[in-house]
Amino acid sequence: MINKRRKPAYPEKNIYSYRSLDSTNLTARRLAEEGAPSYSIVIADEQKAGRGRQGRSWFSPPGLGLWFSIILRSEDLSPYEIAPITLVTAAVLASYFRKAHKIDTMVKWPNDLLVKGAKIGGILTESRMIKEGSGYLVVVGIGLNINQGQDDFPPQLKDLSTSLFRITGKIYNRKDLFLSIRKELFKAYRLFFVEGFTPFQELWEKQSSTLGRTVKITWPGGTLKGEALGLKHDGALLIKDSENIIHQLHHGEIES
Ligand code: BTN
Repeated sequence: MINKRRKPAYPEKNIYSYRSLDSTNLTARRLAEEGAPSYSIVIADEQKAGRGRQGRSWFSPPGLGLWFSIILRSEDLSPYEIAPITLVTAAVLASYFRKAHKIDTMVKWPNDLLVKGAKIGGILTESRMIKEGSGYLVVVGIGLNINQGQDDFPPQLKDLSTSLFRITGKIYNRKDLFLSIRKELFKAYRLFFVEGFTPFQELWEKQSSTLGRTVKITWPGGTLKGEALGLKHDGALLIKDSENIIHQLHHGEIES
């Protein structure tokens, strides 16, 4: 009898690679809407209009960083259950930089990767219902600064941003890095889709630059100051205000 191999849970080789794009998130969304399968990746050498959170732009010069977006589809998880995927991504990336490259990387809620307070990477997760009742589409966009020297950043980012090269003085093979990172993230996402955020909570918390501090959080239409206590199992940040009231925040920006 022929021993038929089972189809892998994700198509390992589904990588859409471009020299230049406006934004990998936008192309990923279009490809997903046209039927690209879950775990497909869109990667570009350069982004002309890289997008950051809160409507900001993301500086994505050619040949120096990793700019890519992962398409994930879920029939089984609700938008509420899938929301912590950004935290999972951040925790796994920080842990990868620590273990594989000995770089002390911190996560700042909800999506920043910091080294000595400067931003080495960011995550922009965008999601939507595919069709009512037929699942949920998520695009996890990841930007990592790899081989930029100080002068490769525009003046307003020089002090706020960093790169692997600026930290270690080494030039990295971006393709090798990308393949290792993809492996780590896919392993994590497979676990996340079965067990949710719980297996990642401790990993996130122990690398956090946010917890235990008094922080000021802003969001469209609101602001809150208090002590960052921890995360809920759904990824919400727990903040205790001056009257000892505990708030659960799902969105927002921490002022540093
Ligand atoms: C942030 O920290 O504000 C999030 C930055 C996310 C940047 C990445 S680069 C790849 C993907 N495509 C985009 O346009 N943005 C994300």
